[in-house]
Amino acid sequence: MNSMGATRRNLHCLLSRVCRKRSYGAQPQGGTSPSSSSSQQLINLEYEYSAHNYHPVPIVFSQAKGSSIWDPEGNKYLDFLSAYSAVNQGHCHPKIMKALQEQAEKLTLSSRAFYNDKFPVFAERLTSMFGYDMVLPMNTGAEGVETALKLARKWGYVKKKFSIDEAIIVSCCGCFHGRTLAAISMSCDNEAIRGFGPLLPGHLKVDFGDITALEKIFKESGDQIAGFLFEPIQGEAGVIIPPDGYLKAVRDLCSKYNILMIADEIQSGLARSGRMLASDWEEVRPDMVILGKALGGGVIPVSAVLADKEVMLCIQPGEHGSTFGGNPLASAVAIASLDVIRDEKLAERSAHLGEELRQHLFKIQQQFPNYVKEVRGRGLFNAVEFDKTALPVSAYDICLKMKERGILAKPTHDTIVRLTPPLSISSNELQEGSKALHDVLELDLPKMRKPKPADAPATPCHRCGRNLYG
Ligand SMILES: Cc1ncc(COP(=O)(O)O)c(C=O)c1O
Repeated sequence: MNSMGATRRNLHCLLSRVCRKRSYGAQPQGGTSPSSSSSQQLINLEYEYSAHNYHPVPIVFSQAKGSSIWDPEGNKYLDFLSAYSAVNQGHCHPKIMKALQEQAEKLTLSSRAFYNDKFPVFAERLTSMFGYDMVLPMNTGAEGVETALKLARKWGYVKKKFSIDEAIIVSCCGCFHGRTLAAISMSCDNEAIRGFGPLLPGHLKVDFGDITALEKIFKESGDQIAGFLFEPIQGEAGVIIPPDGYLKAVRDLCSKYNILMIADEIQSGLARSGRMLASDWEEVRPDMVILGKALGGGVIPVSAVLADKEVMLCIQPGEHGSTFGGNPLASAVAIASLDVIRDEKLAERSAHLGEELRQHLFKIQQQFPNYVKEVRGRGLFNAVEFDKTALPVSAYDICLKMKERGILAKPTHDTIVRLTPPLSISSNELQEGSKALHDVLELDLPKMRKPKPADAPATPCHRCGRNLYG
């Protein structure tokens, strides 16, 4: 490297760090009023001033209602992502908005240094609805996962009498539990973990759905294992459903080896899969359930860990918490969000609409057997997996074309399109979504002249060594 050049670059970096002007309160130069800006201006603005930690489909949401989205130009779209299942109740549900507005005018935050008059009501409601003794409230999903992991470790030290710093958590290949260091330490995804090490110690991995491998790990290290963390249906991996009987077998093994069964239902729960919890598909009761996303009705981040006293009371005052966890605004919104799920029978709705959607998708698969490798899902938690050897473009390109046809879906990995619309969506809207996918494959794909990407050499997962998504 040219050493003069390197020195100049270092100097420039240093100067920009120390001398960068701040303009607190002042309108940025060239700033535009977002409400009057075009989609492209807003996308440019975000690209310039926000970290590039996402690769969004280029559509700007400026208004939403139910399953419908409008961009700043007034174009209408149908939402087939639901903010990764955070908007199960539909955008801006009137009952949830009412609860938000009424509570916002009364009291928004007490912190749990004091009591407030909404959190206890929410705690009672949530625990009785799901049949657990207690709740520990947090905000984002990743914080819920962190909480569950800390709780499991603490339980291990208090109840299983682990030696100091020896607690182990087992998680699954292909899992996704959020973006904090603890959550990525559980994960198997090169993009999520590469460059962020060292990861948390005290962790073992097992193939999702492989009960024999799980028992082997429990047999070998059970004395030090606090919990088994898993998604009953893996969302980010591409709606991966475990083999029948897996959840029951996990329950039995966790009981046999006295290991906490920790279900991350942040995405799969709250009616998304056609049951209140995806664990209900096999009628199992995990020792801990983590909820998030739709618990806040798509309005405000609310997450929660549910457990019985035997586990929950292992944490003492001062050992864990969050300034905003259990705040009255979030509690009021969460109560309304649960009411809507119950009153509008969203679990049942998701179950039967999911059947309808898959019927449309199976037809598409029959028409395009070369492209569509698999259609899978439970309730309105669905994915279409394309055959990467036959498809000339990526799943992201398919989503771009669907967007042009008014349907907003997001790929997961290179070959999977996830279809998870709000549970309030209508049969006709589901048909519109399916038709868009059909038309993309029939009409757009032949014109998409992108050279087929050379098959990148499979990069094995840094953690488990497998080519998970190959
Ligand atoms: C299963 C699961 N757990 C945890 C998270 C993290 O939630 P959040 O993004 O609210 O931190 C997600 C988010 O997609 C998820 O799908």
